[in-house]
Amino acid sequence: MKRENFTSRFGVLMAMAGSAIGLGNMWRFPYMLGEYGGAAFILVYILCVFLLSLPILFCEFIIGRRSQTNAFGAFGKLAPGTAWKWVGLISLFAPLIIVSYYSVIGGWSLQYFFKACTFGFTDYVTHEELDSMFNDFVSSPLIPILGHTFFLLITALIVMGGVKGGIERFGKVMMPILFVVVVLIAVRAMTLEGASEGITYLFKPDFSKLTPEVCAAALGQSFFSLSLGCGTMLTYASYVNKSENIAKSSAAIAVSDLVFAMIAGCAIMPAVFAFGLSPQSGPGLVFKTLPFIFSQMPLGALVGILFFLALLIAALTSSISLFEVGVAYLVEEKGMKRRTASLSIFLVTWIVGIFCSLSFGPLSEFEILGNTLFDFFDKLSANFLMTIGSFLVVLFAGWKMKKADVMDEFTNGGTLGGNVRMFNFIWFIIRWIAPLVIIAIFLSNLFI
Ligand code: PHE
Repeated sequence: MKRENFTSRFGVLMAMAGSAIGLGNMWRFPYMLGEYGGAAFILVYILCVFLLSLPILFCEFIIGRRSQTNAFGAFGKLAPGTAWKWVGLISLFAPLIIVSYYSVIGGWSLQYFFKACTFGFTDYVTHEELDSMFNDFVSSPLIPILGHTFFLLITALIVMGGVKGGIERFGKVMMPILFVVVVLIAVRAMTLEGASEGITYLFKPDFSKLTPEVCAAALGQSFFSLSLGCGTMLTYASYVNKSENIAKSSAAIAVSDLVFAMIAGCAIMPAVFAFGLSPQSGPGLVFKTLPFIFSQMPLGALVGILFFLALLIAALTSSISLFEVGVAYLVEEKGMKRRTASLSIFLVTWIVGIFCSLSFGPLSEFEILGNTLFDFFDKLSANFLMTIGSFLVVLFAGWKMKKADVMDEFTNGGTLGGNVRMFNFIWFIIRWIAPLVIIAIFLSNLFI
């Protein structure tokens, strides 16, 4: 059977930027900014994106497009008969773990979107009331599971539609809408009275806040945000046409992801400061602090609807990319039909996700290494699996693949002059800088 491919450059960009842009940008990035001190964190983050994450994205592109197969099979195909094939195992487990907890937040977004549509925030007058509404909501056993279920079902249905008819089509329609909506919200937030303090927080670095912990968090966030090290970009890259320019497409994805995170920051921080609230409310920032702001600010009800719509779209385009890794594996390695494969992934992630959801309520006492199941999965994936996965991807491209093959893929057989000229520099980063920096940060994080 012929493999499906993405059909247009725009489609590739929207699908891959769709994977990158997600809850990581709109939920994780803002609260990390709040916890790690604003602009200084952003600076380290930008360095991480361009010096490390972008070269890793090149590698995922190179491995995926060259192998023309799913993330599990790719390593075995490019290095047959070696132990490298086991690297693919990370891409079997990491995406399942991530979808399972990601879809819980996806479900919250879905339910908050409905709440916003029915003007559910306007009845609350104090911040504390919205806090306790959120706490009651996430700790109740059934309702969040309902959101999680619907969110996963929508994801599965889109993936069932195929690479072209499902994933590419959804991305092409939804990503531009998402972008416009978030820009509108940012304009509204930045024109609020008292917004300037939030803008200073975003753009004026305080270097005394820089610690190894902040650097490690920025690195982890840059991997998470660019969907690296867990097979998603690699799988999508295997659907990219041989004529696409890997360097350009990767740069476009990294830049849009960064710009989007900044716009999301501009949509959130100025409003948080304008209302005299703390940016340090952690993962609850988007679900507790923002609804309060929406209940207070002029046009807030409308902005609230738009915000949770954007959050939902961003989450969906990312979760379909995570789903696709497993589906591609089951279809190509196990000979399953796409529909059966999607349903199987649905079932597994649905069940595991239920436990993640319950870890906010009835199972909150159940801890693994001092974390609830949800936190454990979040840390395990962002700080551990994705870092190790990214490390192995650069090692594979830099030390196992032949330099000539890597260059051939990166330069489309030597036909892209610009890529030929920068290749030696990129090769140096892939072989030396990227692996060493990842080890350094990883170790410093373990021992601090
Ligand atoms: N990059 C996505 C986000 O920012 C999350 C994600 C991680 C998606 C890993 C796919 C793979 O939300």
